[in-house]
Amino acid sequence: MDEKTCRFLPAWDPVLRFLHWWNAAAMTAMAATGIIFMVCGPDLPEGTEDALVSIHASVGFLFGAGVLARIIWLFIGTETARWTDMLPISAHHRKVFADTVRFYLRGFRGETPLYLAHNSFAGPVYLGFFVLAAVQVASGSSMLGLPEEIRSKSMAQELHATVFLLLLLYIIAHLVAVFIHEIAEKRGIVSAMIHGKKTFTDDERDSILEAHPLAQKGDFDERKD
Ligand code: HEM
Repeated sequence: MDEKTCRFLPAWDPVLRFLHWWNAAAMTAMAATGIIFMVCGPDLPEGTEDALVSIHASVGFLFGAGVLARIIWLFIGTETARWTDMLPISAHHRKVFADTVRFYLRGFRGETPLYLAHNSFAGPVYLGFFVLAAVQVASGSSMLGLPEEIRSKSMAQELHATVFLLLLLYIIAHLVAVFIHEIAEKRGIVSAMIHGKKTFTDDERDSILEAHPLAQKGDFDERKD
């Protein structure tokens, strides 16, 4: 990257960033308490088990609120936060999708895909995550207050355990992908999820402004380093 001409383009709005870290923190707390139940549930002293259940359920409601807010933001949020930025529906997004597949097939070497906000290959996975997260909150809340003997035989519990494993897989895949893209692209994607802006060279910025349907419409502020 030409170090003199770093360009910062806004990719993520503050609401999306806040909800990202809110949901990530809530999921970490729920996964931790969930794993403790799964591994040593029957051996836990009653008081400890009750305390864990109420932490798990309370954080679950906070997570539910975060997921619901993010789903609403998919429809009324800023342009890079909407569902339309996540799916390969425009020519630009389809190109990003194909470039990402090629980049993976090359073993993460060579030219990296160029996109402003959501990667169109990851976008459908993110949408799948929102659906799974909503199912998880619904199945968890439907079991609240049920006596143990009914809860342990319910469909809701089976669903809750299966979706939990899928969400765990999502987190592992997400962290591996973020790590690979951070190293290969060098566009500061992790810090962009904190302050909102990704870093591009002059040429990359010009290509994005030429090709991205959202960038063409908006007046992205930018600054020279
Ligand atoms: C553990 C729970 C996590 C969940 C559920 C989660 C979920 C998501 C979702 C849904 C998106 C898409 C943005 C959106 O539309 O809201 C996203 C993007 C992103 N996440 Fe996470 N995330 C998690 C943890 C993390 C962690 C720990 C990191 C940092 C190490 C991270 C870094 C990122 C980055 C950098 C992006 C943007 C990727 C890009 O620029 O293409 N995430 N995440």
